[in-house]
Amino acid sequence: MKVRSVGILGTGVYLPEKVLTNADLEKMVDTNDEWIVSRTGIRERRIAADHEASSDLSIKAAEMALKNANLTADQIDLIIVATVTPDMSFPATACLVQDQLGASKAATFDLSAACTGFIYGVSAASQFIATGVYRYALVIGVECLSRIVDWEDRNTCILFGDGAGAAVLGPVEEGYGFLSYELGGDGSGGELLKIEAGGSRCPATAATVEEKLHSLSMSGREVFKFAVRVMNNATEGALAKAGLEKEEMDLMVPHQANIRIIESAMKRFGLTKDKVAINLDKYGNMSSASVPVALHEAVQENRIQKGDHVVLCGFGGGLTWGATVLKWSQEEAK
Ligand code: UT7
Repeated sequence: MKVRSVGILGTGVYLPEKVLTNADLEKMVDTNDEWIVSRTGIRERRIAADHEASSDLSIKAAEMALKNANLTADQIDLIIVATVTPDMSFPATACLVQDQLGASKAATFDLSAACTGFIYGVSAASQFIATGVYRYALVIGVECLSRIVDWEDRNTCILFGDGAGAAVLGPVEEGYGFLSYELGGDGSGGELLKIEAGGSRCPATAATVEEKLHSLSMSGREVFKFAVRVMNNATEGALAKAGLEKEEMDLMVPHQANIRIIESAMKRFGLTKDKVAINLDKYGNMSSASVPVALHEAVQENRIQKGDHVVLCGFGGGLTWGATVLKWSQEEAK
């Protein structure tokens, strides 16, 4: 079977208008700007409006990505939405997006890999294109984390934000596009970052609401140690599979959970700030949306040129992790 090279033809984002600053949080929980900035690097985050759900954010990001790829929705063969905050359990948010976009021929599914969701999503979508099953796929990372955060828990509520990032994948000229994938999971660490209730194990009751079991809980220190380890290992693994040395990395686009985690990767790979996409100061941790939003901003700021080696890497609940290396080209193969 002939395998085609697959790349990203266009990116897009949507960030809700409402900004929640550290000063705002000081009025809500026992915290302060100095602690949040020094421990996390976050200064503000976006919060979806009451009428906005994940599909609404997704559609706006997808429309921008389609425009930037010079494609229309009816050309899309596959839509994958990576999210832990779908509009509802089912139908899948990907189905809602397909309907609103008018992507009538697209196959649709949601993907649950928490903060690694976008990396898993592009890895999955690119297989369909590489093998010739489909030509164009839309991969969206979206979260309305403000809806699942306990706004009385200072350990978590200061960290997260809402947003969406999208990418259109398609065939690119040979030798460009995705060069390698390094995905992993460790379900034994699932307890470290989770929402306990609302599924088949612990359905919603008045008691689960009372006990706040529908809110996100996290063992911050343990997840921190895990994050540092797997981000470095996954990046190393993806570079090795692509046959590249760390010095050949032109831009790293890491999951935006904590500036200290990103700095540890910079140290490990000898990267200066111009070689890393960082935006967590503006948006906080948007889980699966963090990587595609940071990637889109880097593209818009002309930080990525044709032929550059771009590494996307993420880690999060599951536990999950992943990294992929791209040799950048947005030019579609004929
Ligand atoms: O995207 C998914 C993956 N998630 C992550 O990667 C998150 C990884 N974890 C982290 O980024 C960090 O662990 C946190 C930012 C969540 C916490 O930072 P930390 O340096 O690990 O702090 P800590 O949890 O060890 O807490 C240190 C102290 C504690 O006080 P005591 O017990 O030492 O008196 C906390 O109660 O800081 C206190 N604290 C706060 N103080 C002010 C915790 N949250 C806050 C807060 N404001 N918001």
